[in-house]
Amino acid sequence: NNMLAFQRTAFHFQPQKNWMNDPNGPLFYKGWYHLFYQYNPDNAIWGNITWGHAVSKDLINWLHLPIAMEPDRWYDINGVWSGSATLLHDGRLVMLYTGSTHTSVQVQNLAHPADPTDPLLIHWVKSDAHNPVIVPPKGINFKDFRDPTTAWYNSELGLWYLAIGSKNDSADHAGTAFVYSTRDFVHYELVPGLLRFVVGTGMWECLDFYPIHIEEAVGLDTSVRPGKSVRHVMKVSLDNDKHDYYAIGRYFQENNSWVPDDPELDVGIGLRVDYGKYYASKTFYDQDKGRRVLWGWTGETDSERADLLKGWASIQTIPRTVLFDTKTGKNLLLWPVEEVNSLRFSSKNFSSLQLTAGSVKPLQIAGAATQLDITAEFEIDGSSLEAAIEADVGYNCSTSGGAAGRSALGPFGLLVLADSDRTEQTAVYFYVARGTDGLLKTYFCHDELRSSKANDIVKRIYGSTVPVLDGEILSVRILVDHSIVESFAQGGRTCITSRVYPTAAIDGAAKLFLFNNATDATITAKSLTVWKMGPALMRPFDM
Ligand code: FRU
Repeated sequence: NNMLAFQRTAFHFQPQKNWMNDPNGPLFYKGWYHLFYQYNPDNAIWGNITWGHAVSKDLINWLHLPIAMEPDRWYDINGVWSGSATLLHDGRLVMLYTGSTHTSVQVQNLAHPADPTDPLLIHWVKSDAHNPVIVPPKGINFKDFRDPTTAWYNSELGLWYLAIGSKNDSADHAGTAFVYSTRDFVHYELVPGLLRFVVGTGMWECLDFYPIHIEEAVGLDTSVRPGKSVRHVMKVSLDNDKHDYYAIGRYFQENNSWVPDDPELDVGIGLRVDYGKYYASKTFYDQDKGRRVLWGWTGETDSERADLLKGWASIQTIPRTVLFDTKTGKNLLLWPVEEVNSLRFSSKNFSSLQLTAGSVKPLQIAGAATQLDITAEFEIDGSSLEAAIEADVGYNCSTSGGAAGRSALGPFGLLVLADSDRTEQTAVYFYVARGTDGLLKTYFCHDELRSSKANDIVKRIYGSTVPVLDGEILSVRILVDHSIVESFAQGGRTCITSRVYPTAAIDGAAKLFLFNNATDATITAKSLTVWKMGPALMRPFDM
């Protein structure tokens, strides 16, 4: 089963072997970025959950470290589950995580570095004298209370606050968030009220809650208070549908509530962090570069049998910087951290390639098209735009025929991880339609249906609308790395991640194409750059 070896990524973070899920406790500490993650040291499927650990100087090249925490106490014997780091103002670091106890109760536990002067933070001490520090509140199922956030500080009150996701089954499967306050991270008080409550959304896993600057392109420390230029982002991972949703809104600490700017886009029912295979994401404030960075887990979409054969499962997406989109005023911009550019080693520019309706164009690049960073800009010729009067009757990436479903103004875009006769291909594309209101609407999608000839794989068509403002050109960036395709439309307004498992389009047989399946429009790829990407270093730890 040689094919399986080609699925291993070259520049995405993954452990050397076995199972990984959520990113945990990311932070920058004494010159190093730390990533902890849900890890099964024994097998390529979920179980025996510990905290794996790795460090990096640049979020791209990693040194694997020994397991940071194992399930070895009554209060976490069924799993050292997800949690977050908080850096205190005096430089101390505290870690809060969920433990699944000997009776499978979800409790919150405290841990700290055994040697805070060790920049690698290799050894961890659990607070045996105090754990668990938080147990499920009254009226909540003991299995619906997990994944504490990073804490934020209120200097006037001298109190730290943190949130924990849950659900309330007596209220139509409402997802909800409890807030606790603490002075010392040992004693906690439940803050009256609920930070938010959204009917029908189910259990909120891996809650994330942070301030965002709405005027400037900077990140904010988690303790920055709400104000004229500062909103708060709430992100939840829905256990129901396994997608990450976020919303932007206002935080009112005085009455422990957060209110979305647009109630129609409330958390859990509105915008998604990523429209593909992507879950359990978590941000941290990088105080070294003054930015907020997002980590997200992408699991496998092949079979458990294949994972056991490969001996590994899951990768982390390339970390993304998080900014508010000042142009639309409505969404975030998620973009691969700039450090990933350091892996670019050769580039090829194509300019003004014309794609007539119904055409496919191979893009000649030297060697294998398996590790790429692509940026492209597309223009639809003006007369086609004018002529397209056929009104959009509810296009939907997932159900409208994918890359093969033709209409006046789309789909068009790129085919990545394709073999020369395109028996395998993953399509990344735009689809433009005129709405019933006469305005143009743009969709951005991934079509995985032909991504692999293997049949033990979940193949889907993913996507959503993407805002395109007056005078803007359509633009996309795509990171390709063997079995993952990460795409960012319009500077990161809409993101999609796919896991794909080509059997023919591997190694030197992997090619790249442009396609235009519109029936009436000529599309011009105004600019197109393809970089080949070198591998990241992922070194084993050696004392
Ligand atoms: C999310 C999650 C968390 C939990 C962890 C267990 O993927 O289910 O809610 O803490 O994974 O591994």
